[in-house]
Amino acid sequence: MTTPDSFYITTPIYYVNDVPHLGHAYTTTVADAFARYYRRTGRSTYFVTGTDEHGQKIENAAAERGMTPQALADEVVERFRGLWNDLGISNDDFIRTTEERHKAVARDLWQRMVDRGDIYLGSYSGWYCVGCEAYYTEKEIEDKVCPYGHGKIEHREEPSYFFRLSAFQDRLLDLYDRPDDPFVRPESRLNEVRSFVAGGLQDLSISRTTISWGIDVPDAQDHVMYVWLDALSNYVSVLGGVGSDLYERHWPASVHLIGKDILRFHAVFWPAFLMSADLPLPDSIVAHGWWTVEGQKMSKSLRNVVDPHFLIDEYGIDVVRYFMMREVPLGLDGDFSHENVLNRINADLANDLGNLVSRTLGMAGKFLGGQMPDPAAAQGGLASHCGATRTAVRGFMDDRMPHMALADIWELVGRANKYVDEQAPWALAKNGKNDQVAAVLAELLCTVAWVGVLLDPFMPDTSAQILDAVQARLPDGWTFADLADDIGRFMQAGVALGSPPPMFPRIDDKEKQKRLDRIKSLSGAGTDDGDQGDKEDNVDETAVTIDDFFRTELRVAEIKAAEPIPKSNKLLKLSVDAGEGTDRTVVAGLAKAYESDALVGKRVLLVANLKPAKLMGVESNGMVLAGETADGGLQVVEPPANVPVGTRIK
Ligand code: MSP
Repeated sequence: MTTPDSFYITTPIYYVNDVPHLGHAYTTTVADAFARYYRRTGRSTYFVTGTDEHGQKIENAAAERGMTPQALADEVVERFRGLWNDLGISNDDFIRTTEERHKAVARDLWQRMVDRGDIYLGSYSGWYCVGCEAYYTEKEIEDKVCPYGHGKIEHREEPSYFFRLSAFQDRLLDLYDRPDDPFVRPESRLNEVRSFVAGGLQDLSISRTTISWGIDVPDAQDHVMYVWLDALSNYVSVLGGVGSDLYERHWPASVHLIGKDILRFHAVFWPAFLMSADLPLPDSIVAHGWWTVEGQKMSKSLRNVVDPHFLIDEYGIDVVRYFMMREVPLGLDGDFSHENVLNRINADLANDLGNLVSRTLGMAGKFLGGQMPDPAAAQGGLASHCGATRTAVRGFMDDRMPHMALADIWELVGRANKYVDEQAPWALAKNGKNDQVAAVLAELLCTVAWVGVLLDPFMPDTSAQILDAVQARLPDGWTFADLADDIGRFMQAGVALGSPPPMFPRIDDKEKQKRLDRIKSLSGAGTDDGDQGDKEDNVDETAVTIDDFFRTELRVAEIKAAEPIPKSNKLLKLSVDAGEGTDRTVVAGLAKAYESDALVGKRVLLVANLKPAKLMGVESNGMVLAGETADGGLQVVEPPANVPVGTRIK
């Protein structure tokens, strides 16, 4: 039996032919905010993501790069894992469809559908788009071109197993018509699915014999499973399959969060597969819109693909998270521009939130000697607004409207800023009304703490910083129930409050323009080469642009000293002259290949703008390039003899 308080949320699993971009970051961040929110409600929450590694699209992408599909998957999966780590994503598991635990469950699902008599052998003749990994009818395509912009599509003829999708039309329509609790959100998407299904369903080809990169069909090893059947089953395989502990606790999923482009697979095929296998259906499918960039489709050929790492480096994690979730109502399309991010920083983060926190703490410093006043003396002017905001946030999250939850939190911030102006604690202090000053500031400090609490799902670091600044000492793993309606219980009179630097400093117009110019020169965003992106499948999705490349600073350097690092048989501590006046310390894994002395005086290539990292307790400021020799040893890369130390290599 599913735990009644389970909240199980999934993201789509991402194809590994592409490196992660803003669209992927968006889906995963929104799912993360829901997961964080429901954990705080005390519900037993499970949140997963992963990668979709089979199918023709991946097979082709790997072949183009001269790699095996597995090697491509192994490389790209790290990009996704790394990004989720860098974005502070709190997923409980990560599934790859090439894992055995997944394959076994996909086969089990197949077998259940066979046992119900819903799979039969036939032959497929029709149209297939590799970009979508989807079959299209003659009606859906014009001029043999993919309706979703993937360019030319193929005619295909091959023996195939079919799933009796047509038999599920009525049950699907009943599902869409269920009252009160729509299966698909937003409503416009539900209507789209309903009319697709009402238009009639054909049986679905669910195996392929002309590709081999996939999961073998049980008892028919010349067939591999259709990649969408394989991929959709991840939502069960990641739990350990039907009957496992996690399955019992969390299936069916509460929310499959997806992009609008993959609605048909989730809202038509997936429930039909589950109905056939006699398994419970997910509670809901929530489809979000697509991001464009300065009004244009995001595409490699337009060179406007937004790299989430760039955004994190430029703005910080919480700004990126806030922007994505606040800028677009969940379900609608959104447009990305750096200018909009900077505007949000100034308006919402600097003027509203940052200002409230810093002026509240500033006044506490000035009028109360930086000590927390008695929270019980709080004046009460904002408490009911805090309560109303908590209720509203709950409603908006349950209705899958995180942007509205954020808007409401900002209304509270705005109200609190107004309250400061109305109460004018400086005037009270001037007139010696010290009790009132303490009461007003206690009220403000508690409100700031509530804002910190409410921001936790959306901006976890900012939330922690705010709670720390006002010294709200919440228990580890706190829930909203722990707080009830009294945050003052966790704030003690007399403790020293923090005095953090301004959280989101305002960016003036001059500085803003400078940043925009620099970003433009770095990213090449908005450079239109006239290609509308139809050739996307021919583009090497992992290729870097010249701008990407030049973000790495390679310099000629000379090793001045070298010594082994105690307790490491691999690492050497080098002192390196890169023409900067002072030598740098660089830790290099060269101990097995070189005696320390043999390196002194050697000229090398240094990655000069690598983020410092501590290795065996020694801070390394750069990396020395080396290549693997034929016998498995290592040799440092030596720059051309006439190029002086300090020269940047281009
Ligand atoms: N592998 C399938 C999903 C299988 S789920 C059982 C897939 N992968 S994907 O990598 O192409 O896309 C994953 C998600 O990223 C989709 O939800 C898609 O909508 C989203 N996005 C891709 N580009 C996007 C934008 N430009 N904007 C917003 N999201 C977009 O589909």
